[in-house]
Amino acid sequence: MAELKDNFNRSIDYIRLSVTDRCDLRCFYCLPKQFRDFSEPDTWLSFAEIERVVAAFARLGVAKLRITGGEPLTRRDLPQLVQRLAANTSIQDISLSTNAVQLARDAQALRAAGVRRINVSLDSLDAERFRRITGGKLDKVLQGLAAARTAGFQPIKINMVVMKEINEDEVEAMLAYCVSQGFVLRLIETMPVGDTGRDAISHYVNLAGIRERLADRFDLVPGMMPGGGPARYYRVAGTDTNIGFITPISQHFCATCNRVRISAEGMLHLCLGQNDVVDLRTPLRAGADDRHLEQIIVDAIQRKPERHEFNEQPEKIIRFMSLTGG
Ligand code: 5AD
Ligand code: SF4
Repeated sequence: MAELKDNFNRSIDYIRLSVTDRCDLRCFYCLPKQFRDFSEPDTWLSFAEIERVVAAFARLGVAKLRITGGEPLTRRDLPQLVQRLAANTSIQDISLSTNAVQLARDAQALRAAGVRRINVSLDSLDAERFRRITGGKLDKVLQGLAAARTAGFQPIKINMVVMKEINEDEVEAMLAYCVSQGFVLRLIETMPVGDTGRDAISHYVNLAGIRERLADRFDLVPGMMPGGGPARYYRVAGTDTNIGFITPISQHFCATCNRVRISAEGMLHLCLGQNDVVDLRTPLRAGADDRHLEQIIVDAIQRKPERHEFNEQPEKIIRFMSLTGG
């Protein structure tokens, strides 16, 4: 099988595919409250176009795919898309990142279509706080998570962006909740992506301190999680729960980056923290054949930047996080 290698000897075997830039929440660190300037659905790759792009990556050795957004469940007929992608036998792992607001509706269908693992964004278990952070209703998310458990996703990971004066005091409660539910918890440092993300940097918390604090209350045993990605994991002793720390700011992990992102409009983003993009949609719509498409991808990967510069150049990324799905 072909292998996609970049100029820094990293193998790229994982794509994060955004299926829409729209979202039904407005997390303050991601999207402005009144934001409406979304792209139009006819600019998004169609399911057939997505299938072609994914198949091209699969022929180049990519076996792992995550569906992201915006909020992917706002894209109509998402389970159908998953089913079509799962039919590609080279794709061995399909996962989904969602805010879970609409997950109760789709959990069963998505599981049946071939999604095995899900990540759910959840920054607070307090309804009023949750509303202040996201503009949405916590109830819906908890219903979505209950449906996800019933549907049998494994693992279910909770992603919590830890922020000073916002939810920093809640990490113990969130970990206890994840232990009780059998969820994995991942804590994430705020990143300066978009104006919203930069504003939120004033709430930045270095997760090294949070880990020490948690270690006072929980017995954390350093460990690994298969397919764990950039998080550094600990096991909560005596439980099935793993906790991961994602520290793009205090300790970046670019040297082992294995991924690229595709926006809903078919732009290949080579790094979350850089502006290098390669347009896949134009050649697709101009009738590029499979070989041509593969060559465009191979060439693009050679342009993958060595690392982000969130610390050195925090002003760099103008697009909102919702465009590339974190
Ligand atoms: N910093 C860190 N993570 C962010 N996300 C969105 N905006 C930011 C930001 N500025 C992540 C959150 C959310 C996911 C969809 O994207 O983890 O769970
Ligand atoms: Fe939507 Fe996720 Fe952005 Fe929140 S962080 S507004 S859930 S895309």
